[in-house]
Amino acid sequence: MSPKEAQEQIQALSSELQHHNYLYYIKDAPEISDFEFDQKLVQLQKLEAEYPQFADPNSPTKRVGGDITKDFPTLKHKYPMLSLSNTYSREELEDYLKRIQKLIPDEEIEFVCELKYDGAAISITYKDGALKQALTRGDGTQGDEITNNIKTISSIPLRLRGNNYPAEFEIRGEVFMPLEGFSALNKSRLDEGLEPFANPRNSASGSLKMQDSSLVAQRPLDCFLYFVMQDEPIFSNHYDAVMAAGEWGFKVPQPEKNYLKKAKDLDQIFDFINYWDENRHQLPFEIDGVVIKVNSYQQQDELGATAKSPRWAIAYKFKAEQQETILESVSYQVGRTGAITPVANLKPVSLAGTTVKRASLHNADQIAKLDLRIGDSVYVEKGGEIIPKVVGVNFAKRPVDSLEFEYIKQCPECQTDLIRLEGEALHYCPNESSCPPQVTGRIQHFISRKAMDIEGMGSETVEQFVKAGLIQNFADLYSLEVEHILPLERMAEKSAQNIVDGISASKAIPFERVLFALGIRYVGETVAKKLARHFGDIETLKQATLIDLVGVPEIGERIAQSLVDYFSRKDHLDQIEALKAAGLQFEVEKQEGGSDALAGLTIVISGKFERFSRNEIKDLIELHGAKNSASVSKNTDLIIAGEGMGPAKRKKAEDLGVKIIDENEFAMLIGL
Ligand code: IVH
Repeated sequence: MSPKEAQEQIQALSSELQHHNYLYYIKDAPEISDFEFDQKLVQLQKLEAEYPQFADPNSPTKRVGGDITKDFPTLKHKYPMLSLSNTYSREELEDYLKRIQKLIPDEEIEFVCELKYDGAAISITYKDGALKQALTRGDGTQGDEITNNIKTISSIPLRLRGNNYPAEFEIRGEVFMPLEGFSALNKSRLDEGLEPFANPRNSASGSLKMQDSSLVAQRPLDCFLYFVMQDEPIFSNHYDAVMAAGEWGFKVPQPEKNYLKKAKDLDQIFDFINYWDENRHQLPFEIDGVVIKVNSYQQQDELGATAKSPRWAIAYKFKAEQQETILESVSYQVGRTGAITPVANLKPVSLAGTTVKRASLHNADQIAKLDLRIGDSVYVEKGGEIIPKVVGVNFAKRPVDSLEFEYIKQCPECQTDLIRLEGEALHYCPNESSCPPQVTGRIQHFISRKAMDIEGMGSETVEQFVKAGLIQNFADLYSLEVEHILPLERMAEKSAQNIVDGISASKAIPFERVLFALGIRYVGETVAKKLARHFGDIETLKQATLIDLVGVPEIGERIAQSLVDYFSRKDHLDQIEALKAAGLQFEVEKQEGGSDALAGLTIVISGKFERFSRNEIKDLIELHGAKNSASVSKNTDLIIAGEGMGPAKRKKAEDLGVKIIDENEFAMLIGL
């Protein structure tokens, strides 16, 4: 291919991918499969690597991130980012309308009602149709430059569509985390012993501040743009500008979903407010109110702004949905890291469409702050959290004989005295080696799919083995034999053999996952990966000092300290030695010719091949980041079919809509 052809192909692929990105993320109407999209993306990545002179900082390949920013530069906003005044009732809103009508008497005012998204405000500059810079709100005058992180958000265009946009302009909006993604993120954080985010807003703003943009790329962020700013507006009103921004490729509030609506008066504004007060729990994201804006730019100018907020817009905040009920008792859960979490047991009450029996109390400080007592009438509230929270006490109803609340001092499971580390909100049970839920929880984590992925074993098996005294630590797993397992209930020769085989196969699991499996506090999947790649093997990691550790991007002091503490304990070092002796991987495998081309895919091969042996194909699949699987299921992403693929398998694949390719197409995918 000549350089000129390469350049043309890069441009063609880029615009094609931009178009499909728009159809998928903005229009919600994809025309090609995810697989086809990824294939084109891989093709573009390869061309860009081969012809770096034509690579564009706004190429669709930049969505995956990769740039690391240690300190975000602080830059001044061209136009200050003001906030909004709030109202909480019809009366207050009515006063506001009267106030502005007085400022522009005799003029009819048209309003635009919008949702008030609960996320992090951002301001993005576009020049000649390309995303140039993105800033956080900061203090309103200056914000952090987080351009690389913003580029990873798929619903934010890197290049605009058509050619009707202004040569240079700023657009503002809200980055948020949809509820589904938020729950999934928190669930995996809990699994990893990390503190969950309090709400979707915190998780959105926290994500935007991460140093490694490839991690931001993995956070399920989305963004609504709601405000176009230019020196010389090409529109006469806000509504038209927002609709035009939609044409340029931005995700803007859609009138057809009633996310945006014009209104003439208080009654019409209230129709919108009431509709969303009632229906907001059906939205896939959080809102905390409605924003009402004067539509005409001319009227906006006449109304002007105070130092803090514009006079042409106002927020109406919803009351959080609350119920009153009785706090019957408090129970305590012990996690695998020994962290204790208090949970309120409530008299069942109906709240925002579900019956609530339990609520989170977070920690001892929170209970003290609320001055909670058993038997109190408490207010529970539902936000984006998975379980609702107790937000206050109705002191008027406090029983006269109630006693001050006492937080437990001993572990509810093993009666060991609890400890609380300085600066940490949670109490811990330090009895790591024999507190039952910790022992079981740690091994359950160790064998789990993302860790050692031991086939044949599940959480219940671990519980059963621990109870039977077969295992107490990870290393014990590797000396298990069929005869040890057979006497247990529900175990037969075959299942016992499967377990032993599964354990044995796990010895090949790569170092980064072994490191994650160890369950070191704050070392989740991604941190483990970073540490493994950075240090290469366990010996080097073991010897790393606090300073070495915080020098690694994304590794903060808390994680670093946790690692230093972990490796300072003899029982941990002994455990690692025992696992090493059992044959587990404690160094990064050097692989030549590998890539991420198939990262994350589960692939099934079937039939006989000409170019490769079956084993060669299997090795190549793993070398390029995918997993081999023996049978077709709904988790299969791709089938590589050779001669003589069974008709039953083909039918199953077709029924499930799994893509089938031949060995030559496969070779192309991995660049052979
Ligand atoms: S307009 C000059 N529209 O609310 C005001 N803001 O309290 C420009 N927000 O910082 C903002 N949804 O982060 C506007 N539809 C919406 C909004 C919205 C959420 C946030 C925004 C702003 C804060 C003001």
